[in-house]
Amino acid sequence: MTAQLNARGDVAVLVPAAGAGLRLGPGGPKALRLLAGEPLLVHAIRRVAAAPSVRAIVVAAPAAEVSAVRELLAPVAPVTVVAGGAERQESVSLALAAVPAGVGIVLVHDAARALTPPELIESVAAAVRAGHPAVIPVLPVVDTIKEVRPGRAELEVVLGTVDRAVLRSVQTPQGFRYDVLVAAHAAAADPLTDDAGLVEKAGLPVACVPGSELAMKITRPMDLILAEALLHVS
Ligand code: CTP
Ligand code: MG
Repeated sequence: MTAQLNARGDVAVLVPAAGAGLRLGPGGPKALRLLAGEPLLVHAIRRVAAAPSVRAIVVAAPAAEVSAVRELLAPVAPVTVVAGGAERQESVSLALAAVPAGVGIVLVHDAARALTPPELIESVAAAVRAGHPAVIPVLPVVDTIKEVRPGRAELEVVLGTVDRAVLRSVQTPQGFRYDVLVAAHAAAADPLTDDAGLVEKAGLPVACVPGSELAMKITRPMDLILAEALLHVS
């Protein structure tokens, strides 16, 4: 039976899922790669649909997979599926154009963060609802970070050590007032890897909430092994 979304929710979640997954290696688009027998996108959408604030979900799928993704997700949750673009930012813009009228809060959430708990989706939405125009989940940086003069890896020279205490790793979902995200995408020039970056460029404040280890992005083959282990606690 298809789960229902909350008709009284005030949040639309855009799920960019149109990437090739090149860093994961051969095996087709990343969102359709299997984790414990189910596509990453199914894991991700099930968790998004379980967040009580969510009224609508728009997925940006690989252009060749739009009908396959529609069929795949029909038993999971009511979703709108659009064709994504060549860059993540374009996929988000195309999904944003399909958001139903009357939604005040928009979250952008990578399909590749397939194990993100519904509680994180709620906490980002709550911070936007509380008045922040843009909100991102973050974690402290664990490694020591060096700035280098880029070159071939074995020849790179260290320019300095960055103060780790002021650095954060950024996750999704990233949350926005609807009008703020629309304006940020309309003004976007160069593609960025996150949407909050566009809002920063527009000079608006971006607030942080604590992220979750479970919201890790599945990027490299080792991440799939870690995600499979994390399935038991998520
Ligand atoms: N994404 C997208 N459209 C693109 C590129 C990326 O919708 N043109 C989505 C991906 O499907 C993913 C999220 O953006 O859910 C984060 O991107 P990333 O982890 O880089 O995924 P891929 O681009 O698929 O992976 P890679 O960069 O290794 O090819
Ligand atoms: Mg990518």
